[in-house]
Amino acid sequence: MIGDKKILFSGMQATGNLTLGNYLGALKNWVSLSDQYECFYSVVDLHSITVRQNPAELRKRARNLLTLYIAAGLDPEKNCIYYQSHVSGHAELSWILCCFTYMGELNRMTQFKDKAKKHSDNINAGLYTYPVLMAADILLYQADVVPVGSDQMQHLEITRDIAQRFNSIYGDVFTIPEAYLGKSGARIMSLQDPSKKMSKSDENVNASVYLLDDRDTILRKFKRAVTDSMASISYNEEQPGIRNLLDIYCACTQKTPEEAVKEFDQKGYGEFKMAVGETVADTLAPVQKRFEELSKDKEYLDKIIKENAEKAGYYAGKTLRKVQKKVGFPERIR
Ligand code: TYM
Repeated sequence: MIGDKKILFSGMQATGNLTLGNYLGALKNWVSLSDQYECFYSVVDLHSITVRQNPAELRKRARNLLTLYIAAGLDPEKNCIYYQSHVSGHAELSWILCCFTYMGELNRMTQFKDKAKKHSDNINAGLYTYPVLMAADILLYQADVVPVGSDQMQHLEITRDIAQRFNSIYGDVFTIPEAYLGKSGARIMSLQDPSKKMSKSDENVNASVYLLDDRDTILRKFKRAVTDSMASISYNEEQPGIRNLLDIYCACTQKTPEEAVKEFDQKGYGEFKMAVGETVADTLAPVQKRFEELSKDKEYLDKIIKENAEKAGYYAGKTLRKVQKKVGFPERIR
């Protein structure tokens, strides 16, 4: 707890352009939860270098991502929005937790297996221990709740396991975090192949809607979205393309799938796809406008970056010192 509030932590990688999946699966929920909790939202740039990055590009994307957090509606005066690399405690705790994590556990991580396949020329140790760094992110702030899309559930499970193991040896050091999944939008699929998650790194540009896509591009992508030949708008497993579009629509409008199905009853696929596209474009337009405005205000952003890194560092330091003491590192002489 900080004051009388429970603590929330979440983060996103500054790799590639943010997609509608990132927005509906995570960022949108962050905004709706931000009044209830004391929140830490990190741009997790340490995670990004587990795959090769162009340094100038990474710096630019990280700044854009931080700006997008604010543009999406997170008030940086109330929420701690910061770069992971500005708080050294993440890497320090990660090392300690590595010594409490088994290789057998890491071997089971599906995201590692997928990424190793994709980047077979660079299967580095950081890619392998990535979930431990993620556990450190969360545990460093004693987070109670972690809003994520469903693809991160396995990482949340290992975080809980590591925390419980540590606590069972040293007493109550870490809060055991819970994942928070939104009602709809926890898993947005590719518009071109609804069996695959919508991803920043998809090579097919029509598969993902990016947060900064303009209206025409968004409408064009929805027009081309893959559906089926069943000519019926209903929410079921046999129609993954239609179901995905309904999920997107519901996540944007807060409607239930039943309400949405009723609304589009008797409508053709073409009309339905356009309606979903329009809704998405309307949802993203204010975020894009604010992003443009904020991007011009260098001084304001720099101030946020500095102040929030100090705030995050303060809370991270508290946990880190406690952990260092527990494992037996000598006290610092001041
Ligand atoms: P990342 O950067 O891949 O994704 C950021 C967030 O977006 C969610 N997401 C999706 N949700 C629904 N549908 C999709 N198609 C979709 N694609 C992505 C992700 O679940 C995530 O919530 N390892 C994390 C970053 C991270 C983190 C953390 C998250 C590092 N440390 C600590 C929470 C807490 C990642 O790579 O997310």
